[in-house]
Amino acid sequence: MFFTPGTHKENGLPHNPFKAIVAPRPIGWISTISTDGKPNVAPYSFFNAMSETPPIVGYSAGPSASGSANGEKDSLVNARETGEFVVNIVSKQQIQAMSDTSADLSHGVSEFDFAGLQAAPASLVKAPMVADAPCQLECKLLDIIALPEAPDGTRNHWVMGEVIGIHIADHVIVDGKVDVLKYNPAARLGYMDYATIEEVFAVQRPTL
Ligand SMILES: Cc1cc2nc3c(=O)[nH]c(=O)nc-3n(C[C@H](O)[C@H](O)[C@H](O)COP(=O)(O)O)c2cc1C
Repeated sequence: MFFTPGTHKENGLPHNPFKAIVAPRPIGWISTISTDGKPNVAPYSFFNAMSETPPIVGYSAGPSASGSANGEKDSLVNARETGEFVVNIVSKQQIQAMSDTSADLSHGVSEFDFAGLQAAPASLVKAPMVADAPCQLECKLLDIIALPEAPDGTRNHWVMGEVIGIHIADHVIVDGKVDVLKYNPAARLGYMDYATIEEVFAVQRPTL
């Protein structure tokens, strides 16, 4: 089949398949702190790494239903106002807690408390980290790019940061490498679906 964006229903697909097509996506579980010191954490699956050296990551925040007054999500507002954020990686055991932190709580209500999560201090930024995450990336804000307007007049904002500090839980390191089956980062698929890694294989690059 072929269709243009926005016409999936006319083409027999009741749910937009875009996120099921661009899958699996890593989840950036973004923790920030507001200028008045309120911690915040929320999952973003429009998230990825953009470069290795220097290490750059980014996430895209859509409009907020009832968060801050200007219709922006707290993870966007806090990153813009404080110039920093932390990416926490979600372990398989934390998928439910991660999902709980996507609740549309009012500005200033802590998702850490709501989801029963422990916060831990970061080393180089003021934003707190999710204590039990297998990996945390401390980031300094690089740029925020407003993406094109949606038909309803809302916009997503692409938040980019440089990773300035990396935490890896000791138990996921085996023989000097991150063992992905121990790390087992949760990934987002389409609809309400998630995936974890069950099988790993290597492919060598061509040598010419
Ligand atoms: C797995 C998962 C991935 C999500 N990815 C995104 C995303 O990429 N962009 C977005 O705007 N919202 C995303 N959401 C919804 C936000 O987490 C949710 O709107 C949250 O309340 C935002 O919180 P904040 O205002 O504290 O930033 C996602 C939710 C879940 C459960």
